[in-house]
Amino acid sequence: MASAKENAAQEALKLVQNKMVIGLGSGSTANIFIQKLAEAAKANNWKLKCVPTSVASEKLARENGLEIISLADAKKIHLAIDGADKVDEKLNLIKGYGGALAREKVVGYLAKKFVVVADESKIAKALSGDVPVEVLPFAVATVERKLMKLKAKSVAQRKNADGTPYITDNSNFILHADFGEIAKPAPLEKKIKLIPGVVECGIFSRNISCVIVGNETGARTINAP
Ligand code: A5P
Repeated sequence: MASAKENAAQEALKLVQNKMVIGLGSGSTANIFIQKLAEAAKANNWKLKCVPTSVASEKLARENGLEIISLADAKKIHLAIDGADKVDEKLNLIKGYGGALAREKVVGYLAKKFVVVADESKIAKALSGDVPVEVLPFAVATVERKLMKLKAKSVAQRKNADGTPYITDNSNFILHADFGEIAKPAPLEKKIKLIPGVVECGIFSRNISCVIVGNETGARTINAP
């Protein structure tokens, strides 16, 4: 039997058409989509071009025979498919528990259609919990202090299993800021983004077309309000 993530990825595949430029997300659900996309492209002889959001997604896509282009060479991204860590009822997201939030936001916000694939465990009435924030290593301490001034309950730097700082694909650090329940994601996203030294904020409040929620028997689509 297919998993919830597989069913969400399978449903997202229905949005793909020949000759599209596709933004490839990061994380386990996006990985399933990348593999399904590669199989479908081979089976249907689709000529697709893909813009990946992480080194890992690029590697997986290349290994599966998808054509990769740079963001600079993508005149348009027709469709971006990505996972999420949390989704609220208005389709605001928290992303970045895989550490790829900065490129994910560039690709997702630029895409004509930005579609999220997730399982039911990600869906809640409101966003809550850790918000990943990518920061310049130079400014990590000052950003931490500014996040506390924005009323974060706690801020912690993301570490690897061996205790060394986690380094993103863009050579930056990640801070996890816990704001509790986030009643107004869009203004908080803006405030975080304006802190000097912040590269990107893991709240995604714009441009999400729909969320495809997989379950064990199929998938349902929640369209943007
Ligand atoms: C990667 O940085 C994240 O934004 C992922 O999209 C998110 O963590 C979802 O990942 P899973 O599909 O593995 O749950």
